[in-house]
Amino acid sequence: MPAPLRVGLAGLGTVGQGVVKLLREEAAALALKAGRPLRLARVVSRTPRPQVALGGAPFGTDLAVLIDADDVDVIVETIASADADAALAAAKGLLAGAIETGKHFVTANKALIARHGDALVAAREAGTHVGFEAAVAGGVPIINALTQGLAANRIEWLAGIVNGTCNHILTAMARDGQGFGAALADAQRFGYAEADPTFDVDGIDAAHKVAILAHLAFGAPLALDRVHVEGIRAIDAEDLAHARELGFRVKHLGVAERGAVPRAHPCLLPEDGLMAKVDGVLNAVQVHGHAVGSTFHVGPGAGAAPTASAIVANLIEIARGAPPALPAPAEEVATAPIGALRCRHYLKIPAADQPGVFAQCAELLSRHDVSIESAIQRGATRRGGAGAGAEWVPIVILTNTAQEAEMQAIVAALGGLDGVAGPIQRIRVADFAGAV
Ligand code: HSE
Repeated sequence: MPAPLRVGLAGLGTVGQGVVKLLREEAAALALKAGRPLRLARVVSRTPRPQVALGGAPFGTDLAVLIDADDVDVIVETIASADADAALAAAKGLLAGAIETGKHFVTANKALIARHGDALVAAREAGTHVGFEAAVAGGVPIINALTQGLAANRIEWLAGIVNGTCNHILTAMARDGQGFGAALADAQRFGYAEADPTFDVDGIDAAHKVAILAHLAFGAPLALDRVHVEGIRAIDAEDLAHARELGFRVKHLGVAERGAVPRAHPCLLPEDGLMAKVDGVLNAVQVHGHAVGSTFHVGPGAGAAPTASAIVANLIEIARGAPPALPAPAEEVATAPIGALRCRHYLKIPAADQPGVFAQCAELLSRHDVSIESAIQRGATRRGGAGAGAEWVPIVILTNTAQEAEMQAIVAALGGLDGVAGPIQRIRVADFAGAV
């Protein structure tokens, strides 16, 4: 049997433990697939005592040991910390050290790849491989699909549910009537959420992932500040119920269209489409290539075993001598701003319970040349909340297609009407080309 691939593991949280278990439990089968054993050579973690059997691999708390070790061929980075900046800095240091000492590197850290993509180029120049299959959509091999299976295609667009925590929360709120806080607590308990879950619910985690996907799909720059980001905090159970009544489900999507700004935000999706049926921690990405047409990739997006599955797949590729994913060649594509986006919109307007408010709203939309596709106004009058003490009722409107910039102006103008008693909820409909 050829020499083993010697793995130095940094981080022994949920994902790190998943990697250790998979390497141990499937050792023989993995060695056959990789052409040589994948051996856990060293483990470094700030945990003083490992929670999982390490099979004799030396254990310590100093990350630098992995960089200096001459019995490590590949560093696997699964560091998790509530201090995201510290975790990112540690991962960045490890990646730089790996490149410098000629080691390969595998990570689940999407922020590292989305914010420090130049390291991919440095690694390639140094002849080392960087694997980041686990960074996007957990166990779904979407990086492999984009860089290998679909490599013959000109990718036109892709869109997907890429944050398992948001999807778990929206599913639990819509299907089980669970509150936002309880659903988030579950996502944390199951190990789906980031150490700092604001990254999940504010859309930042999905934005990192969509930046990576847009880069691999059409060479968009790896830059988080170019991604338009919105989270799910403002969505309430009533929005989910109204969306259902209108024939939609609400999902948090990452969207990358060639020539448009990549974005991560909640969307209404037609209820009979495949994407609307992707619930719980499942992730799904639809990729549209010019030759293949649409492909749909679905599976568990977070959790110990699915993430370990993606990490160990990268280790097998490296053991075989195949680079997991190369940086994409930059393409010069003019990028339209978010204001140019065109789609339908869901609006929920807290209206004072008095005659003529609906008419005022409809008239304002008409002045902006936006027509109403459907509207709902029913339910008990409320007091307080959005209406700050006044009595109000929600008016729900599904508009026809309108430009984003126009809708922003409309929402601002609606908010200024006398009869409108609080902030307006606006959710885009996923109307981009051919979305399922
Ligand atoms: N926090 C992430 C999620 C984990 O919920 O999808 C996987 O990246």
